[in-house]
Amino acid sequence: MEESNTTQNHLPTSNDPSLSKSNLNLDKATVSELLTKLRIAELPSDDSRGPKDVESYKFWKTQPVPQFNEEGDKSRGGAIRMINLDEVPKDPYPLLDGFEWATIDPENETEVGELYELLSKHYVEDDDSTFRLTYSPVFLRWALTSPGWQKQWHIGVRASTSQKLVAFISGVPANISIHAQTVKVIEINFLCIHKRLRSKRLAPLLIREITRRCYLQGIYQAIYTAAAVLPTPVASCRYYHRPLNWLKLYETGFSHLPANSTKARQIAKYHLPSTTQTPGLRPMQADDLGAVHELLERYLQRFDISPTFSIDELRHWLFLEADRPKEGASKRVVWAFVVEHPETQEITDVVSFYAIESAALSHSQHNVIRTAYLYYYASTESTQNLQQRLQGLINDALISAKKAQFDVFNALRLQDNDLFLEKLRFGRGDGQLNYYLFNYRVNPVANENHSDCLDSQRPGGMGVIML
Ligand SMILES: CC(C)(COP(=O)(O)OP(=O)(O)OC[C@H]1O[C@@H](n2cnc3c(N)ncnc32)[C@H](O)[C@@H]1OP(=O)(O)O)[C@@H](O)C(=O)NCCC(=O)NCCS
Repeated sequence: MEESNTTQNHLPTSNDPSLSKSNLNLDKATVSELLTKLRIAELPSDDSRGPKDVESYKFWKTQPVPQFNEEGDKSRGGAIRMINLDEVPKDPYPLLDGFEWATIDPENETEVGELYELLSKHYVEDDDSTFRLTYSPVFLRWALTSPGWQKQWHIGVRASTSQKLVAFISGVPANISIHAQTVKVIEINFLCIHKRLRSKRLAPLLIREITRRCYLQGIYQAIYTAAAVLPTPVASCRYYHRPLNWLKLYETGFSHLPANSTKARQIAKYHLPSTTQTPGLRPMQADDLGAVHELLERYLQRFDISPTFSIDELRHWLFLEADRPKEGASKRVVWAFVVEHPETQEITDVVSFYAIESAALSHSQHNVIRTAYLYYYASTESTQNLQQRLQGLINDALISAKKAQFDVFNALRLQDNDLFLEKLRFGRGDGQLNYYLFNYRVNPVANENHSDCLDSQRPGGMGVIML
């Protein structure tokens, strides 16, 4: 039975034929041919956010993004529009009457509280409004204060009279590698408009305003993700979900009972050992930073598009707890583990995940579902043994997440995830996440069916994880 939900973090059927061995045997040439033929008509459009006719993208057709069905070889990649700073407006774009621009300081508790309030009532929901993503204030501060962050890129809109925050968009700077070329980008996130202000073309205004501010600071490219299909995804990945607390997921309606199963069988199916299995696995410590940096730097080269972290960025993204111990474990947002070789003391592997809650909007017994999202991982294991190694490592991440009271573990079908999703009982979700590049044109990259990760140093595909 297909478990039918549509939001990004919903539970799917765990019996995914697309992960079967026969699909894993597609050769590289076939995959490459398929991906160069990627056209908008071929993108999944299983919900209301499916593709529209090109001309009806009134805003996006004016923007420097690849348009649907563009012809020509884009394998080399490059900027779409050269920006002449003299032509970039120096003042903010005018807003609707009764509203004004604001900035949100993520280090100011009151302002983060206002942002939390806006997002927890108006951010991403599933189609039948059963669950809504709820980013905690600690999470928001973490996500918005990575090295190089600027308050002016955390843009709010306030109602002039009440000063209530009614819309938001944010960006933090990053470097990404696109086919081995480093590109400075802004990572756009948390675009949100109050439900009563929807369909008033405020989103294009927020996007144009953050673009203007980035141009003025010398950043001309952006990366962003959306469930919505816009011109034109550079990658498109399916969500997969691995129940940790199946009964709770079932009770909230997050998970369904397959017709041919029983509750007891479902619980048994998702049972995990109580202790991790990989010898030498332990929580990452500050001293591991240099080794983890090297490990990730090498490993991420496997993918066509991947982040390029500085040591400071890695410290921020994987070490929030060490930086801010006062927050306490219940508010923790990121978990990172390393494997230290028992004899050589070499750091051979790293795995991490982060926490987002989803509010269960119409359930009295359970208010929230705690979701762990697979974050960055890397291994020094040879390609021959990589599959087995990753299966062990990610299984240990599942065990650790279960111990930390998470209910479900999410992963996208990107990076090397094909090597363990099926084996570790991840089920295919209905949610699809599209990746976009702004003002950069390059061939789309494939994530699904990259069987070659079993015998290739470079499987390709998307390697960036967006929060
Ligand atoms: C996404 C959201 C901000 C769009 O606001 P809206 O009021 O529905 O749309 P507006 O009238 O302001 O603007 C419509 C334009 O924005 C575009 N748009 C819609 N969602 C978008 C997204 N996630 N990213 C970029 N552009 C988007 C539309 O395609 C349309 O442009 P087009 O004419 O070229 O097609 C709003 O629905 C919202 O807050 N949703 C909940 C949170 C959410 O889903 N955020 C996005 C996370 S990726």
